[in-house]
Amino acid sequence: MANRGGFSSKLGFIMAAAGSAVGLGNIWGFPYEVGQGGGAAFVVIYLIFCFILCYPVMVTEIAIGRKTQKNPVGAFNDLGYKKWNIVGKMGILSGVLILSFYNVIAGWAFGYILEMAAGNFNIAEQFNTYVLDIFKVGSYGLLFMATTAFVVSKGISGGIERAAKLLMPTLIIMILSLVIYSFTLENSMAGLRFYLVPDFSELTGSVIYNAMGQAFFSLSLGMGALITYGSYVGRNDNIITSAAFITLADVGIALIAGLMIFPLIGYMTAGAMEDVGRGPALIFVTLPQIFGSIGGVLGSIVGTVFFTLLCFAALTSTVSLLEVPVAYVVDELGVRRKRAVWIVAIGIFIVGIPSLLGNGYSDFFTSFITYVGAEKATDFLSFMNHIANDTLLPLGGCLIVFFAAHIWKKHNLDEELSHGSPSYKGSFVQKYLNFAVSYLAPLVLGILFVFTVLSTFFGIKII
Ligand code: PFF
Repeated sequence: MANRGGFSSKLGFIMAAAGSAVGLGNIWGFPYEVGQGGGAAFVVIYLIFCFILCYPVMVTEIAIGRKTQKNPVGAFNDLGYKKWNIVGKMGILSGVLILSFYNVIAGWAFGYILEMAAGNFNIAEQFNTYVLDIFKVGSYGLLFMATTAFVVSKGISGGIERAAKLLMPTLIIMILSLVIYSFTLENSMAGLRFYLVPDFSELTGSVIYNAMGQAFFSLSLGMGALITYGSYVGRNDNIITSAAFITLADVGIALIAGLMIFPLIGYMTAGAMEDVGRGPALIFVTLPQIFGSIGGVLGSIVGTVFFTLLCFAALTSTVSLLEVPVAYVVDELGVRRKRAVWIVAIGIFIVGIPSLLGNGYSDFFTSFITYVGAEKATDFLSFMNHIANDTLLPLGGCLIVFFAAHIWKKHNLDEELSHGSPSYKGSFVQKYLNFAVSYLAPLVLGILFVFTVLSTFFGIKII
């Protein structure tokens, strides 16, 4: 086999995987889901998903990747279960779909760096027209995709690992400074209360489904991204502790992003949290207004820092999203890495064009589909989001753990996990993981997957 490269150290892997996890999902997605889904009640359910159900999925993905040293499709073949490679293929499809719309949003965020630097805070009111300027935002998207492709083309340790090691610490420093700043503002406590004090009367079926989709998306699970990254991990690295660290880092940064945003919103709405725009546009509309109200050079600096941070976070995620199909093309079709990267990146950019057009520019893609029982049509970008995040990822996660426990078999998984983790066998973690991977996760994820599909696409609400 050709040398596929790999991470140069355990820390390099952790940084890259945490970089994959921490992205738009944490800073853009998490706060808006919290806003829509009833504040702290959503946060509680989200945390339960991350630690109880998603952590076992993460450990399993990394173990399968390291065992086989393959992309998600090759991994199933390599273990001798070719029919199961459909799960890997589904993962690659999810990666392509997610990156196609993720890159559009990353492009918007990139444009906002320039707007903030120019002190153009009015962009908040003009967001709806901003996204209509498809040649401008399309070029930003193209630039973002090209940057992603450039990093991936440099390979694992020279590109992905290096970028993550530089970008992750910078991100954390920037985010913490904004948290401190937001705490100093008037009415910040009203925002914090909304975010941290749960009101369980807000808890509905869709809050639970959204929390599940958000947990999978945020932790980059269910599509084999961590099978792929796991394939570059050293035999002696400890998967159990690495996965724990990645989960903690991701959840921690989402929680801190909330600590930054909700006090700002409290300030903006003078404590009336229900007045805030809570859709996906949250950070593109509400935040620039806040930066504008700071005004002057300081407002411009804070705004520029924020959107730069968002783009950093997005880049280490787009890199992992692109790496999944690229690893497949390199391993299975024998294409050279550099060539594979550029072909796949251009292809995905093209797949993303309807998501770019579906925000008002093209009526067809803006009112793309009306789900059974829905009052309004869903735009193309949201449709992709529902298909990939809320549906394919939890299904993928469910099938991956089911496969590992019942087809590949638990003792093989345990064997792989104990490499690099001498105290694993016989530990409480082993017992919990065995239970979660064999029964809890496949069952809960399987049932919730069916409920989510029925509720989202067919208007049938069971809970
Ligand atoms: N976890 C990323 C985020 O929260 O923005 C998005 C993502 C990256 C999802 C990689 C899936 C993936 F494989």
